[in-house]
Amino acid sequence: MQYRAVKGFKDILPDKIGTWNKIESEAKRLFNLFGYKEIRVPVLEKAELFARSIGRDTDIVSKEMYTFQDKGKKSITLKPEMTAPVMRAYLENNMGNISRLHKIYYISPLFRQENPQAGRLRQFNQFGAEALGSDAPELDAEVILLSLQIYDRLGISNLKLLLNSVGDLRSRERYKKVLKEYIAPLLNLYCDDCHKRFKTNVLRILDCKNESCFKLNLKAPKLLANLSKECAKHFTQLQNILKDNGVEFEVNPYLVRGLDYYTRTVFEITSDELGSQDAICGGGRYDLLAQQLGGQPTPAVGFASGIERLLMVMDAQGLFKEEEERLDIFISPLGEEASFLAIKWVQRLRTLGYKTERDYLNRSLKAQMREANRLNAQLVFLLGDNEIKKREFTVKEMDAGIQRALSFSEVESYLKNYFRP
Ligand code: HAM
Repeated sequence: MQYRAVKGFKDILPDKIGTWNKIESEAKRLFNLFGYKEIRVPVLEKAELFARSIGRDTDIVSKEMYTFQDKGKKSITLKPEMTAPVMRAYLENNMGNISRLHKIYYISPLFRQENPQAGRLRQFNQFGAEALGSDAPELDAEVILLSLQIYDRLGISNLKLLLNSVGDLRSRERYKKVLKEYIAPLLNLYCDDCHKRFKTNVLRILDCKNESCFKLNLKAPKLLANLSKECAKHFTQLQNILKDNGVEFEVNPYLVRGLDYYTRTVFEITSDELGSQDAICGGGRYDLLAQQLGGQPTPAVGFASGIERLLMVMDAQGLFKEEEERLDIFISPLGEEASFLAIKWVQRLRTLGYKTERDYLNRSLKAQMREANRLNAQLVFLLGDNEIKKREFTVKEMDAGIQRALSFSEVESYLKNYFRP
């Protein structure tokens, strides 16, 4: 085969689409129930948008973006995430003037040039939600409850909710100093990437997956112990609301997430069913992003869930079942005249709302019956010269194994009766 899909890009074939549709429709149903409205933003944005929001020193921006120059020599990026484009659209369209609180959801493909592995693709899909306009911890809780409810409706179990607060700018600046004091004498024990992180953004060191760095980090001072009073109160309130609503969680003081726009709440939902890429969902609060992008202060919180990873978990938990589809009617024409007539009948029956298919390959009766069985047809309408002469079909009711003649004029009333709920 000469042409293959680009590395890290995958087809979703028709036999798997049922589960995708189920996930998307369940997510949409719950977004709707929670009052979130859909947004669709372009697949391309100016590269600068992501550098400003996600942060220049993050892995996503420094290593993983698909960025190229367009004809006007502008630097353009295939969107690697949705929070920044949603905020850009919110600000550009002055949505804050229309209403003080906007609750928005999306389902979208995204692009990151990471090393492909299980659960890590270069094109992947997310559904997610962003609530813009309030800093109330109740809204953080709503976003978390919403994501958990979607997973629950899909039948997924054994998920873990990890929670942390990365504080506001002041708390973070204070903490960066404390962390640098701890790491400086140990720096030669950290990996090369962490040496760079020490200079650019020391907080990123806490996110390092290297085992020796991870061990050193275990003894590092905690950001949670350095939160301002207001941030600590916000975090306590959020935890109380979650407990009150019966949500189990684990506070993980090392959770800093791979994007720089977060303030206060950050969270991830993980599954043991996945390997090293165990997060099916990530999110948090980003109260300063609107201002960073030149807008009015707009506190906001959101989450995004990776659909491919969700499918892996559903597969591992035996929830990955394509539903058996049924065809209402298969028309089986034999001969040229029957074939012409069949196309009219297919059209007519489809217009009446019946899922109808026919043979297009001039197959033998036996082969057409095999095809009708493969398509799981409930009825087969046989149409040969004899039937045309008598202006009728020979109908096979497949489940009952009954065969009968049906005149053209009676088709509609027969079907109404047969498919009566
Ligand atoms: P994120 O943690 O980068 O956050 O991505 C969220 C989820 O997308 C991950 O937990 C994972 O399930 C999935 N994901 C990420 N990268 C890949 C990949 N290369 N292959 C497959 N799945 C992947 C964000 O994107 C933030 N915008 C979330 C957010 C919304 N924060 C606030 N609002």
